[in-house]
Amino acid sequence: MPKLIVVTRDGEERALDGEAGLSVMEVIRDGGIDEILALCGGCCSCATCHIHVDPEFAAKLPPMSEDENDLLDSSSDRDETSRLSCQIPFSDALDGMKVRIAEED
Ligand code: FES
Repeated sequence: MPKLIVVTRDGEERALDGEAGLSVMEVIRDGGIDEILALCGGCCSCATCHIHVDPEFAAKLPPMSEDENDLLDSSSDRDETSRLSCQIPFSDALDGMKVRIAEED
């Protein structure tokens, strides 16, 4: 099973087993980390699943949609590594990817 490394807001690093086919948001939530609110349930309309992705994996991520881009603009913690975790399907290709949970807006 591919692993997802998650850095929580207080800096704790956790390695989660991620089922391929789930979104990164679902892997984080199912792994028992409750810092991701995911209020909209993954339909790209809330931005509470904001994460920062290790730049080494940037090329392996699906391109960002206009909606995702607009939503991320509403976050004061946005930078070039920002993504909405519900918009990234987890897969074997992302094994070992490190993500950091964004600050709460
Ligand atoms: S869960 Fe709402 S945008 Fe990702």
